[in-house]
Order: sequence, then structure tokens, then C-alpha cells
Amino acid sequence: PASRGGRRPLLGFDPVPTHSDDTLTVPEGYRTQVLIPWGTPIRPSGPRWRKDASNSAAEQAEQVGMNHDGMHFFPLGGREGNRRGLLVLNHEYVDQQLLFPDGDDEITAEKVAKAVAAHGVSVVEIERRDGTWRVAESRRARRVTGDTPVDFSGPVRANHPSLRAADAPAGTLNNCSNGYTPWGTYLTCEENWNNYFGTEDSDWQPTTSQARYGVSRTGGGYRWHEADSRFDLAANPNEINRFGWVVEIDPTKPDAKPVKRTALGRIKHEGCTVTESRGRVVAYTGDDQDGDYIYKFVGDGSWRVQRALGRSPLDHGTLYVARFEDDGTGEWLPLVHGRGPLTRANGWADQADVLLRTREAADAVGATRMDRPEWIAVNPRNQDVYCTLTNGSGWNSAVSPRKPNPYGHIVRWTEHRRDNTATTFEWDIFVLAGDPEYDPSVELDETNIFGSPDGLAFDDDGRLWILTDVSNSSQNLASRGYDNIGNNQLLVADPDTGEIRRFLVGPRGAEITGVAFTPDQKTLFVNVQHPGEATAAYGEPTPDNPRAVSNWPDFDPEGRPRSATVVITRADGGVVGA
Ligand code: FEO
Ligand code: CA
Ligand code: CA
Ligand code: CA
Repeated sequence: PASRGGRRPLLGFDPVPTHSDDTLTVPEGYRTQVLIPWGTPIRPSGPRWRKDASNSAAEQAEQVGMNHDGMHFFPLGGREGNRRGLLVLNHEYVDQQLLFPDGDDEITAEKVAKAVAAHGVSVVEIERRDGTWRVAESRRARRVTGDTPVDFSGPVRANHPSLRAADAPAGTLNNCSNGYTPWGTYLTCEENWNNYFGTEDSDWQPTTSQARYGVSRTGGGYRWHEADSRFDLAANPNEINRFGWVVEIDPTKPDAKPVKRTALGRIKHEGCTVTESRGRVVAYTGDDQDGDYIYKFVGDGSWRVQRALGRSPLDHGTLYVARFEDDGTGEWLPLVHGRGPLTRANGWADQADVLLRTREAADAVGATRMDRPEWIAVNPRNQDVYCTLTNGSGWNSAVSPRKPNPYGHIVRWTEHRRDNTATTFEWDIFVLAGDPEYDPSVELDETNIFGSPDGLAFDDDGRLWILTDVSNSSQNLASRGYDNIGNNQLLVADPDTGEIRRFLVGPRGAEITGVAFTPDQKTLFVNVQHPGEATAAYGEPTPDNPRAVSNWPDFDPEGRPRSATVVITRADGGVVGA
């Protein structure tokens, strides 16, 4: 390994080979433990998981949700914090074939209620005893679901006319990636929220703004509107405006309402990565759609002063969208009512209007189209910013270097004077993902070929953890150039040398996502999402055979595949990855 100016090399494990088996593999000398699969009671005394999926909606609301995604570990008890804490994690969406005993041919109100309860966020208190992590009884344990009462804050207030709907504001849906703040709260981000809404009213047509967000009569196929008018676009037209936001949750206050922070814009938020510069809060967020944009929010003044004044640092500030020039420079363009094209004369009523229609505002100022921006991570050693561009059709600019781009890449930028509040930056491409057998521009080999990078996070030592989400229409298929890449994976990069090594390969059909660490970095938590999802390479699962692709992690012929958190430690008790 390359020397790091006398420092020990960052990467100290042997790379794991790719595979397409229904198993999860890690390097020699590492141990794994499956924790909190879907359906686990969030308190040990709670309702037990039933492997035929017959738990009711009310039981699901007391159990860990489905399709684990972004996650953070909040240590508890001072020095105890390496073996006790709150694990807070998102549940992105539901697989209705697996969620209900009889699948989803018929949608009922009870099924909608259970699906809503399987979304959102879980807060579980966990502790390590005798080397094993387990869920503890806790007054802080909590589920936030698609039905939990919420507040709105920032320029789009709860009483805004666009948010007036049949019921009080409630719930968060399609909780993809996440963030956390310097003041100890968790951020959960609403991504493909348009999928939950639809209508059977043939007169209904999407507005221009709705069309820009992909809102359609059929939605994403969940068909909740057939049994619950809350999700009917014609009957309850404003409900959908309550989604598309970053939502703040205080994990230590189980009775506090989650708050939708509207100043951060309304997009298909992948995640929300918070850093600070000159005392101000800076929050980066990607809009994961082919051709959509990267945003950042810069708080007004010191976040500590804002908090001392009783204000949220996420309610007062400026939202920007990124423009990447072909010469390696870039600019942050403000999305502020009255500035540039965002004027009353051009049809922008006020800042709330700009935020409710964030995508159109970004179109108007001339943002740069990207290949599906997913997670964003800030290097703790030098404040450089990295963003995964998972894949896409390829756009007409240097930051989108392949057309099409089936494998994705990671872009990196340095803000002017390393100040993350700056409005200009310089960028380069950190790595092109893919398989050199199909694309000679790829500089990877059997120790690290990967595709469709999605999750991305730095640990405190500066290792860059890369998590992949090859879709199940491509996974392991030669016709997609993915036959050598294997199942989805977790890799680790040294950002200084560019070295990348494969650390983990997941089971079939699953995405690897949601990475978190204990403060001593001796325990790593990672999520395995949607094992058993319909995968072209393995045939379609059906209600009669939900195990067609994968039966991880229980391998119970009577059970079904379940998303779960995997706990990874070193047998010798060392720092994970070192
Ligand atoms: Fe939910 Fe873009 O991943
Ligand atoms: Ca993702
Ligand atoms: Ca993805
Ligand atoms: Ca996902």
C-alpha cells in the first residue's frame, strides 16, 4: 500500500471476491451478526414477528419497518457509547408481495395501513453484551411512520394554502438516505414520494409542476388510492404537497413531532449531509433522478446562535443548486425569490412557491443535469465533498463523461478556500465505476470492480465507504455488462491515493446501504435492503414463492427474505477497515 507521509495505510484488510450467491461475505478476520430484520419488535416486549407476514398494521407500527436504508448511530451514556446507543434507520418503501400474506392483487384499507406503518423511521436502543448486540427495552424506542403527526417549518408553513388537505399533516414516506446534525438530531429524506399517489378519476391531469416530479394517475403501482382517499390525487389534491421534504427527528425526544424543514427544498431527496464552516451549517442534498441536480443549503449566521435564539438553523438560510462547468470549475446558483429569473413577473409568487417547485426553479437558473445524484459525503480531513452519480443516460457535459452511463461514477469538489459556504468550487472525477472488460476507460480490477455507486460515507479516519445499488434489471446480467460484478457490495477507498478495495458482498437481489459506526469505529452497521426483490437474473418471486431470488437472512422455507442491519466487527477488536 502507498505510504501516507509516515501514517499507517488507511486500508488494512484483504479484498473480498465478488460472487452471485445468496450469502453475505466479509474479509478474513471479520465477524457479522444480523440485527433488527424487518418485523423485529422495537422493544423486546413488543409484538412478535410472524413469518407468514400476518402481523396487523397496528403490530407493524410497533415493529421495525421494511427495506432498511439510511442510518445513524447516536451513542448513549458518555464512555458507554461504544456499546450502547440509539440506532436510527429509514424504511424506504415496501414490497407488497412480501408484506401481505396474500400479496397485493387486492388492496384494502388494512393493507394500506400496514404499508404506511412499514415506512418511515425506526429508533431502537441497542447494546452490546458479551460481544453481541441486542435490542434493549427503552423509553426512547419509537416508530415514525407514514401516519405520525408532523410539523412544517421554514418558508412553507403548515397553514400554507398548498398544504391544506383533508387531514392534519402526518407522516413521512420513501425515506431513502439520511443525515444528522451537529446538535444531535436525525434527518430523514423523502425520495420517490410521487409513487404513493394516484387516482381513478380519468379527468385528472398532472399540473406542470406535478409532471416535473413524475406524479401520474397510476403512481408507482402501490394503488393505495384504491382503498384510501388520502392518496387520491383528485379527491385530496394537496396531500402530495406535504411530501418531498427533509424531515428532522430528535431521537432523544420520543414524543416530539418530526419537523419538515422546507427551506431545504422539495425534490426527490436522496439524503442530506450536514457539515459546518465558519460556524454556519451547510447541508448537501442530491435529487436522485436521471438529469436532476445537486443542491446545498447554507444557514444564516452561526448555528449555535440560531439555536440559542430558539430557532432552527435549518429554517433560515439560502438554498443553492450546482452548476458544473466543463473546465473543472463550478458555481452555486441561489434559489431565492426575486433573484435572477425567480421573480413575480416570471410567475414566482414568493419563496414558498420557489420551494414547493424547487425543480422548476433550478431549471430556470440553469443548473447542470447529472447522472442521478445519490449520497454526498464530506471528507473530515479536508472538507472535500464527494457525490455518487449512480448511473444515467448521460448528459451533455464534462461532469457526465459517458453516454449512456450504466455504471456511474463519483464526482468530487473542493469549495473555494475549503469553505463549504462558498459559492464557487473546483471539481474532478474521483472514480469511474464499471468493468474494464466492457469499458476500457475503467481503471478497476477484480479486487474492486463495482457498478452503480449509491451510498457514500466517510469514517472519522477519512476512509471513504462506497455502497452499491445495481438494479435488479441489471444485477449479474451479461447483457447489461454486469456479469463480472456480482451482487451489490461495500467497498472502501483511500481518498488520497485513490486505492479502492472490496469489503463486503451482499446476498442476491439486495442493495447494500445505510452505513454507521460506533465512535471508536470498532463496530460498523450496514443495511441489506430488499433481498429477494424481483431480479431478472433469477426469475420473478411470486406470492407462492417469495424466495425465488433470496431467502436471506433466515433461510427458513416457511419464512421470507427480510431486510436487516448487519453488525460487523473485527475478531481482534480493532478498527473496522484498518
Ligand atoms: Fe433511494 Fe436514490 O435511492
Ligand atoms: Ca439510494
Ligand atoms: Ca439507488
Ligand atoms: Ca433502495
